[in-house]
Amino acid sequence: MFKVVLIKGDGIGPEISDAVVEIFDAAKVPVEWVGRQAGLSVIDKYPTGIPQETLDAIEKYQVALKGPTTTPVGTGHKSVNVTLRTTLELFANVRPAKSLPGVRTRFDNVDLIIVRENIEDTYSGIEHHQTASVAQGLKLITRPGSIRIAKYAFEMAKLYGRKKVLAVHKANIHKITDGLFLKCFYEVAADYPEIQSSDLIVDNTCMQLVTNPERFDVLVLPNLYGDIVSDLCAGLVGGLGVAPGGNIGEFSAIFESVHGSAPDIAGKGIANPTALLLSSFQMLQHLGLHKTKTRIENALIQTLKDGIKTGDLGGKANTKEFTKAIISNIDPVVENEFNNPTPVRITTSLLKTYKEVEEYCHGVDVFVENPKGIPEMPEKADHLKLKMISNRGTKVYPGVIPKIWLVDHHRCRYVAADENGNYLNIGDEEIFDLIREISAAGIKWMHIEKLQLFDDELGYTKAQGE
Ligand code: NAI
Repeated sequence: MFKVVLIKGDGIGPEISDAVVEIFDAAKVPVEWVGRQAGLSVIDKYPTGIPQETLDAIEKYQVALKGPTTTPVGTGHKSVNVTLRTTLELFANVRPAKSLPGVRTRFDNVDLIIVRENIEDTYSGIEHHQTASVAQGLKLITRPGSIRIAKYAFEMAKLYGRKKVLAVHKANIHKITDGLFLKCFYEVAADYPEIQSSDLIVDNTCMQLVTNPERFDVLVLPNLYGDIVSDLCAGLVGGLGVAPGGNIGEFSAIFESVHGSAPDIAGKGIANPTALLLSSFQMLQHLGLHKTKTRIENALIQTLKDGIKTGDLGGKANTKEFTKAIISNIDPVVENEFNNPTPVRITTSLLKTYKEVEEYCHGVDVFVENPKGIPEMPEKADHLKLKMISNRGTKVYPGVIPKIWLVDHHRCRYVAADENGNYLNIGDEEIFDLIREISAAGIKWMHIEKLQLFDDELGYTKAQGE
């Protein structure tokens, strides 16, 4: 028996979860659902929305199938989904988008897989009010996170016999953050010469996806682009009712549909269970029950080909009728793979993702508040010299002031260089001196960022030798 934690969720969650459990029972899949009756809960009275026993069960049994859960807007617990992903370090969000027979869409042959980094990027949620009129969010892209997701995408492509992996980014604008993501992607790609690797800017990717989606195979993206592009891809193959997903980590995995709890139709018995069923197919692959997956998948495809569909796909069947039809199409011959499953597991723990590099601090950006226009900043402190001031990213000093709206938040860049323009490596004391001067001049500073160079970027011998 394979033990799988069942979280039915709320809204339409229990209806669609029951449908999947019924289909598994009918197909005689040897899955024991932990928490079968009610489904292990995720409820309001817990600060994170998740009782400890649910988290413990997922950690113990390592695989969960989850129905959607409502996230209260403005108040109440945090998003259960985000909490689960981060607490269990479910770093890969895998969302296949595949055309289904009988589901009318503009395209017939879409068969792509989105691999979305699931933890980092702007989803770290590190946001601050800088001034009364300026808010800031940090976009964190890390080397380990980027290497790991790229490695996952290539390993998955290899296992599933996929030919191409495409990195999607905006490194033309986000040169440092998306630039790092892209650099890591190509580092990993070098280990997979048999798979074609390339990259595409995210806006161009969206345009090509809606004009020519058949050309795409596996796409790997940072968190935010992955979130948006995967919903776009769901739309290509029939919408949320047929969009599955898996959140996969080193030790546990949670499979769930992309859609939410659909409060507008909850309790009416008309929800489409297909997305959760497709998610359970990913789960079967994860467990190594590939033939079982194909047998149930064939039953689903036959049902759709017969024109039996729920309302969201233009059909007339309710959830129970649709489920019954799938069950009636299941081949009764049960596979003999249960004692010898071949799980799809991608172990990334042995990745060497850290490089020892030396850091050189050659300056500092000081962010200051001044509602009355461009601040009069000290020109220098020790080796640090004021190089420029920008407002909302546009340079406003020195030189001609462009005709832009000035907000009360200014970035003042100080750089330490010798008379030939070569950067100097400065210590914290020089930065403290600068901040003290700024404060003494009556200017309110908000935060600072060190300007750092790393030896591999400078091309020092040590980095080249690695
Ligand atoms: P939603 O995905 O629940 O619903 C959007 C629209 O799609 C609604 O009209 C709904 O009736 C329809 N729909 C969704 N799934 C369907 C299905 N299986 N069959 C037929 N129609 C379906 O998105 P919404 O309304 O923005 O979110 C509702 C709640 O769900 C929110 O609290 C949100 O935070 C939460 N949510 C939870 C997710 C999860 O648990 N993984 C994911 C997305 C949202």
